[in-house]
Amino acid sequence: MCGIVGYVGPQQAAPLLLQGLSRLEYRGYDSAGLAVVGSEGAARLQVRKLAGRISALASLVTELPVAGACGIAHTRWATHGAPTQSNAHPHCDCRHELALVHNGVIENADVLRQRLEWAGHDFVTETDTEALVHLIEEAPGETLEARVLAALEHIEGTYGLAVVAAAEPDKVVVARQGTPMMIGIPAQGTGMFVASDPAAILEHTRSVVHLNDGDVAVLRPGGYELFDADSRPRVRQVSDIAADLLGGELAGYPHFMLKEIHEQPDTTRATLRGRLLFTEGSARLDDLNLSASALAGLRRIVLLGCSSSWHAALVGRDIIESLAEVPVQVEYASEYRYRRALQEPGTLAIAISQSGETGDTLEAMRAARVAGARVLGIVNVVGSSIAREADGVIYLHAGPEIGVASTKAFTSQLLALTLFGLYLGRRRDMSPADGRELASHLAALPGLVAETLTLEPQIRTLAAEFAGAGSWVCLGRGANLPIALEGALKLKEISRLHAEGYPGAEMKHGPMALIDSDMVVVVVVPQDAMYAKTLSDMQQIRARDGRIVAITSRDSGGGGGGGGGNLGRLVDHQLRVPAVIPLLSPVLTVIPLQLLAYHIAVLRGCDVDKPRHLAKSYSLE
Ligand code: M6R
Repeated sequence: MCGIVGYVGPQQAAPLLLQGLSRLEYRGYDSAGLAVVGSEGAARLQVRKLAGRISALASLVTELPVAGACGIAHTRWATHGAPTQSNAHPHCDCRHELALVHNGVIENADVLRQRLEWAGHDFVTETDTEALVHLIEEAPGETLEARVLAALEHIEGTYGLAVVAAAEPDKVVVARQGTPMMIGIPAQGTGMFVASDPAAILEHTRSVVHLNDGDVAVLRPGGYELFDADSRPRVRQVSDIAADLLGGELAGYPHFMLKEIHEQPDTTRATLRGRLLFTEGSARLDDLNLSASALAGLRRIVLLGCSSSWHAALVGRDIIESLAEVPVQVEYASEYRYRRALQEPGTLAIAISQSGETGDTLEAMRAARVAGARVLGIVNVVGSSIAREADGVIYLHAGPEIGVASTKAFTSQLLALTLFGLYLGRRRDMSPADGRELASHLAALPGLVAETLTLEPQIRTLAAEFAGAGSWVCLGRGANLPIALEGALKLKEISRLHAEGYPGAEMKHGPMALIDSDMVVVVVVPQDAMYAKTLSDMQQIRARDGRIVAITSRDSGGGGGGGGGNLGRLVDHQLRVPAVIPLLSPVLTVIPLQLLAYHIAVLRGCDVDKPRHLAKSYSLE
């Protein structure tokens, strides 16, 4: 989604801004632009923008150079108005003296626009943002920051913004309401940065100050001042962008998605590192902030998330209920935030989010808190909004996930939920022996993830066979139903195929009508309590000529294994993941689905890391 980077200091701004924008590419965007304020002699406010890629913007800046040591830049993901050159940010006032970049939505933009047009302002874009720059233009005040503050009083909605003025060439004014903004503080004498995402400034600093809602800050070459919503000067804590944010390079892989799939032996290990207590048979989770009395009073857990994080929550429900015997409810965060959820005392809400910035999940977490729940976050990005607002947090430590498709964060979410289940279970009725056994299975899992990845050559061949098939169904039962849903999501978002995820037994209630020899049915069927039942789902599909790919386990029936026996005769292909206890099988069964979607996407010529119409993170609705 939209991204912002800004700089003021002793160096030329344009190369730093372009570099920052390229680090934000992974978020998804459709247009980009920058504004640089020149010093005496140079044209004062120089704006370059276009619909298209950062590389095209860089070429434009080479053709029409900009000069100056103060500037702002933006990647836009269209919401109000088509992705065109004029709708791209920055936006300027009538006199071309101010330039503004904005993430968020100005909800009262139409009313403001009407009033400003009536007052004589010329609007040249279809965006909501343009109203704000005209508001600043006519706002009273001696300084840019005074005018920004005065203008923001009229704004309803959300914003992360950065503004520069031709008349004040050594200053960037920034503000935040509802969408992340941070000040980057590099070594003394090298200037100041602002960004909406730490990836944009990682090369220059690891020290950042996060703005709170209502904050306005003024950046100058030698430092910054920050004011809260009541215009009082504030000093906020400097945080270290965690080391695990570093290293966003391809390392020889053709795509980030493939790199991240292959990182899973390491990332699953990192999620578990230091958290398994083998002697006690428990888990150590340092930042939960759950008192003994809160644990004793726990009656219900509500898991909140969107998309892949919601699928992880569905797996987590079974894990926590079986280990800790606490009722768990799973909610789409986007629905829960608007529902009058009935919450009993003793409810713990857990917001699950890779980015920690998904607006729906953040708002759902806030709604749960207002309704009286204690709130935890399971997040990957250290210092993200959910991590900072939650009462406690379990970090995934999976490193930066750049590919739009969530892969390594998903498997780490499953492990974080298992660690939480083990932690809670051992504080309730789970025996130390059962805890020790689970801890040892968990410790062995990263090795099994590595073994699962050796299926890739077989999956590549299979992808070539099926890449032309237009319709897919992924089936599963129990703990592997969410994996079927996740597999179908991956085929949709990355391979751009029509794919549905279904519970195996639901097929006969309607979707079975679609089955014929054109339909590919992927069935997730490891050896577990649902194995025989799923086999019977497959028999019904086979009887109707459906082509079946089974993701099964090495200890299940057919092809020389024990168990169910006739799997081999039912299916066209089997992808056999290593045997593991059923509770942990989703961590392995999802990997062939990730690889299948990846290889089909490549064969179909899809843009794997930046899929059509999608962004990495949605901090807004
Ligand atoms: O950062 P989050 O986990 O909150 O993101 C939730 C979804 O936006 C995310 O899972 C997205 O749908 C991915 N593209 C799924 O692969």
